[in-house]
Amino acid sequence: MDAPLIQVRSLRMYFPVGNKIFGKRRQLKAVDDVSFDLYPGETFGLVGESGCGKTTVGRSLVRLYRPTGGEILYQGTDIAPLDEKAVMPYRRRMQMIFQDPYASLNPRMTVSSIIAEPMKLQHVAQDEITARVAELVEKVGLKKDHLNRYPHEFSGGQRQRIGIARALAMRPEFIVCDEPISALDVSIQAQVINMLEELQQQMGMTYLFVSHDLSMVRHISHRVGVMYLGHMVELATAEELYSHMQHPYTKALMSAVPIADPDLAAKTQRIVLQGDVPQPIDPPPGCPFASRCRYCKPFCWETRPAMKEVSPGHFLACHL
Ligand SMILES: Nc1ncnc2c1ncn2[C@@H]1O[C@H](COP(=O)(O)OP(=O)(O)OP(=O)(O)O)[C@@H](O)[C@H]1O
Ligand SMILES: [Mg+2]
Repeated sequence: MDAPLIQVRSLRMYFPVGNKIFGKRRQLKAVDDVSFDLYPGETFGLVGESGCGKTTVGRSLVRLYRPTGGEILYQGTDIAPLDEKAVMPYRRRMQMIFQDPYASLNPRMTVSSIIAEPMKLQHVAQDEITARVAELVEKVGLKKDHLNRYPHEFSGGQRQRIGIARALAMRPEFIVCDEPISALDVSIQAQVINMLEELQQQMGMTYLFVSHDLSMVRHISHRVGVMYLGHMVELATAEELYSHMQHPYTKALMSAVPIADPDLAAKTQRIVLQGDVPQPIDPPPGCPFASRCRYCKPFCWETRPAMKEVSPGHFLACHL
């Protein structure tokens, strides 16, 4: 395998919340000690319930956030601590596609100025911008006469195409796709996914793909990481994870996916999670999943399980 494009090491992103108590604010540990590698050209799926920290991981990697701690090695350079100026050259190599194609496009800008904006910010020459905008519009399946229109004139799927064209403008190596299709009509979700896959094949980009939709993640990802309460609890190739999942949380998450085949569905046991997802504010020590795990033992409350390689390329954080 090639050298990783990005190595994430013990990434932490804490947010101060609430009022000061004894002069200190409490910390919400949105991402706590997360490590994984991203290889060139792969799609890495990130799954887990709402609030587990997927978006925060994505935003930290493209440095929309400055992490509280840990390292983000981009081709060997740690970009986590860099200031705004020093991180600029890396910014153009990384992009993010957002969930909501309605909110993420400026309604007062035309399609061509939206797509051109990142290139303007990076001082690309005007001739080059014009040429690239024309090329991008075609790549994402829009028409030339769309260029002078405004976002509200388009459907959700078309708006997401505009957002994707904009993300591709600086020819990034790495794209975080944060629930890119969940706000779209079911009938056009597959089109957008297929387009993202085709673009990856043409341009060789690496994707971090955040989603709730486990069957779609399986279809599109080479490897998948499962997050719970700010921690990565299991990581493997998509095939291995979906056939030999080991973490009780992964099993519960997967068992909640509707199964189309009625015979298979009848044979499959649904695992219903007990209790609510706790808030990651001042979390207790021990396994993050302890309060909801049906196999939990007393020592699970005491020390947090480290990620261990249980078979080649399959990592698991569980004491049992
Ligand atoms: N800017 C912020 N300030 C304070 N807390 C935040 C901030 N952003 C996220 N959080 C909190 O961090 C935790 C992780 O949030 P995040 O958005 O990363 O989760 P997620 O896995 O993307 O969830 P979803 O599936 O709902 O998008 C949540 O508890 C959230 O409330
Ligand atoms: Mg999110």
